[in-house]
Formats: sequence, structure tokens, C-alpha cells
Amino acid sequence: MRNFIIVTGGAGFVGSNLIELLLKRTNLKIVSIDNYLSGKKKNHINNSRVRYINSHTKNISKILNKIKKKIHTVFHFGEFARIYQSFLKLNECIESNSIGTHAVFNFCVQNKIKLIYSATSASLGNSGNDKNLSPYAFTKAKNLELLENLKKWYNFKFEIIYFYNVYGPRQICKGDMATVIGIFENCFDLILHNLDFDSNFRCVQKLLKLYIVDSDGHRD
Ligand SMILES: NC(=O)c1ccc[n+]([C@@H]2O[C@H](COP(=O)([O-])OP(=O)(O)OC[C@H]3O[C@@H](n4cnc5c(N)ncnc54)[C@H](O)[C@@H]3O)[C@@H](O)[C@H]2O)c1
Repeated sequence: MRNFIIVTGGAGFVGSNLIELLLKRTNLKIVSIDNYLSGKKKNHINNSRVRYINSHTKNISKILNKIKKKIHTVFHFGEFARIYQSFLKLNECIESNSIGTHAVFNFCVQNKIKLIYSATSASLGNSGNDKNLSPYAFTKAKNLELLENLKKWYNFKFEIIYFYNVYGPRQICKGDMATVIGIFENCFDLILHNLDFDSNFRCVQKLLKLYIVDSDGHRD
């Protein structure tokens, strides 16, 4: 029985919100793999069905070897996730988004596990012409390209979630990995009155609910 869900980046912003939702919507066990590059232990969701493993995604095959036949889905959100900072931390970006991500893709292909991956407007914007503007955009665009090829070569099953400027609980508010909305969190009323949230920003919890089907097959 495939009763495990893997969330890479489970101690990060999107990953922790996903774990919270999966606990409400499914009865499955959840394993987070996070190297705490930008994730925090304070983002852990306290529940006996969740196990947090501190590791880089490049070790995924070794870490999950014992349960590889029991995995239902891998949600791969454990990547270096900032545009400007990817110029300053090129090595971390390539290590996570290329080396780590290729290990995750390979693990899923080898074990016939469905993958959910997050795309970004940074690599799709301007009709795809922005894909070489930063190390972050470049690595994410190459990963999408690889996924399309894996589908052709191995009939690999995957889905892409598109996050554009999502906001919500546990977003990063301080330090060099903070997001725009995170930085202005304390002025939230001001932002709500001045930005078009429907077209420019999306609440992470509302967005994730669109993708997660509960055990009765319902989704929001
Ligand atoms: N937040 C957004 O607006 C947004 C927009 C577009 C795409 N995305 C994508 O969504 C995903 C999650 O982004 P986020 O905003 O939650 O970022 P985040 O920085 O809050 O979370 C990323 C998590 O992944 C972990 N991580 C990074 N590299 C890792 C590695 N090699 N091994 C294990 N763990 C690793 C970090 O420690 C962190 O906990 C990313 O792939 C990002 O590109 C986010």
C-alpha cells in the first residue's frame, strides 16, 4: 500500500502549508526532507503522522530506500527559491535546483512515483524569454524541460503547480531570503489597500486547496 507522501522543503513556507493541508485532507503519513537552507524548525507542524528528516535532496534515494515502494506522491518544493539571491549564492542554487532536483526526478522515475513540481513565473515570464535572466530562472526552466523529456522517454507522470507571489502563514519576513509580502507583513493593511491581490498575489492556502483532493475525491 502506498501510504506515504514525501514533501521536500517541508520546513519552508509552501512546504509547511502543504503539510498542514495534507494532514487535514488525507490519512497518509508524511515525510519532509529539508536541509534548512531557508527552512526553520519553528515551521514544523506538530503531528505524529509527520516525520522531519534533515538532509539535502541529493540523498533522497538513500534516505527513502526502505519505504520507496510505499510512496504515493513526492511534492518537490525543496529548492533554492529566490531570484536575486541566486546570483549571490550560485553554488547553493545549482546544488539544490540542479543536483538535488535531478536526484529527486531520478528517484521518482526509477520507482514509478508521481511527482508534483513547482514552476515559477521567473522562468516562464515574457513568453519564456526570461528563462536565462538569473541562475534561479535558468535552473527551474531546465528542470521543466527535463520533465517534458522524462514524460516522452519514460512516460513519467508529473504535475506542475504555478506559484506566483504567494503569501500566507510562515512566509519569510526577515533576512536575505525574505519575500516582498513578508517584508511588508506588518504593513499588511496598507498593502491590501494598494495592490490588486487577485491578479498579482495569491494566498498559499487557497492555492494549495485547489490541487489537493480529499479521501472522498472532493477538492475546493
Ligand atoms: N513563494 C513563492 O512566491 C514562489 C513562487 C514561485 C515558485 N515558488 C517555488 O516553490 C517552492 C517553495 O518555495 P518557498 O517560497 O516555500 O521557499 P522557502 O525558501 O520558504 O522553502 C524552500 C525549502 O526548501 C529547503 N531546501 C532548499 N534546498 C534544499 C535541498 N537541496 N534539500 C532539502 N531542502 C532544501 C529550504 O530549507 C526551505 O525549507 C520553490 O521551488 C520555489 O521555487 C515559490
